Formats: sequence, structure tokens, C-alpha cells
Amino acid sequence: MTDTNIDTDENNLQSLSTGDCVVNEIDSDFWVFGYGSLVWKVDFPIETQQIGYIKGFQRRFYQNSIDHRGTVEKPGRVVTLVPADDETSVVYGVAYKIPKAKQQEVLEHLDYREKNGYERCLVPFYSLNANKAGESIRNIVIYVATKENDSYAGHKNDLNDIANQIFEAHGPSGPNREYVFRLADAMRQFFPHHNDDHLFELEKLLKERERKSFNG
Ligand code: SIN
Repeated sequence: MTDTNIDTDENNLQSLSTGDCVVNEIDSDFWVFGYGSLVWKVDFPIETQQIGYIKGFQRRFYQNSIDHRGTVEKPGRVVTLVPADDETSVVYGVAYKIPKAKQQEVLEHLDYREKNGYERCLVPFYSLNANKAGESIRNIVIYVATKENDSYAGHKNDLNDIANQIFEAHGPSGPNREYVFRLADAMRQFFPHHNDDHLFELEKLLKERERKSFNG
């Protein structure tokens, strides 16, 4: 995570980023969008949360993980967002509002957690909470690992190869496959009517590999 261009003054959080991210100013409210581990591992204080989506991206296991779910010698794979060709494409996830008094602390915590190649960007978020129907958040922080970072692996995008890599990988945060299973479970729980092909197909390939290894 590079933090050049980021002003962490709590009333003026700003983000300038590379790649295809929207560059914008965000309000004094600090919202962060989880679409990967942030969906199921919330190890920071929150004021409130909403389920919903952001537009114009696809969630893909195109980022090597050398610090959480793999090692330098044997990297794992975690998700990042890639710009979608299809303008109607959305990524579902969870928006968290950070309490005012904790903004700086949470920002530093998340920057550290997402340090392996992720940049902060700002995009609009669209709520699917029953009591928030049709509402949006103008600027929400996303952590996105763009093609420019050293751990980007989107050029190796065969799903079977990704499954093999994940199946073999373990890191300080645990087995890589656990990351996939937890994310898939959370997506089913929050968005029972949405079929995330890339994620669910990968989950299927990993379960097959598990079955094979259990059966010798
Ligand atoms: C996220 O969850 O939003 C970022 C990617 C990750 O940490 O898995």
C-alpha cells in the first residue's frame, strides 16, 4: 500500500490512485467496501454496515498473496477488482461505516492489512439494505490491487491453475483455500440470489481437489 497523495485528516480524506480507479474526494464520513476478506473478517471497529454493490468491476483471484495466504516462495491467491468490459457489471460486498473517533486508527490498520499491492480508491456504492433501498454512498474506499503492483498475477488466469496454486498455499493467516470458502459462504449468505461464477467455480475446483486428496 502506498500512501502518497493520501491526506488522512479526518475531515478531508482524499485518495489519488493509479490505474482505472475513480479519483475523487470523499466526505468526512469514512466508509470502506469489503469484497474479499473484509467481507468476513472485520477486525476493526464499525458504526454500521450495509450490503450492496459497486459498479464497473469484476472480482477476480488475480492477486498473489505473499503475506497472508501464502509466502514469497509459495504465493497464494486473493481477490482484487479488475475493470469490467461490461458496463453493467457489479461487485457485491459489504460497506462499513467507521466511527469518527476511530477513522485514523482504522485507516492505518487497513493500510497495513492490505499492504501487499493494494491502493486506496474511491467509488460510489449502491445499497441493497431493505431499509436503504435506492440509496447510495457517494464515495466509499475500496482497496484494489492494480496491474502495476508486483504481486498482480492476472496474466495467469486459468481457473484450474489458480485452484492448484490456492490448494497448495498456506500463509500466516491460514490455508489459502479457507479464504475462498469463507468468501463463498459469505456471498451466499448475504446475496443468496447472486451467482458469482468465478468465485463459485473456484470453490468447486478446490472442493474437488480436497475430495481427491482425502480419498488418496
Ligand atoms: C477486500 O476484502 O475488500 C480487499 C481484498 C482482501 O483483503 O481480500
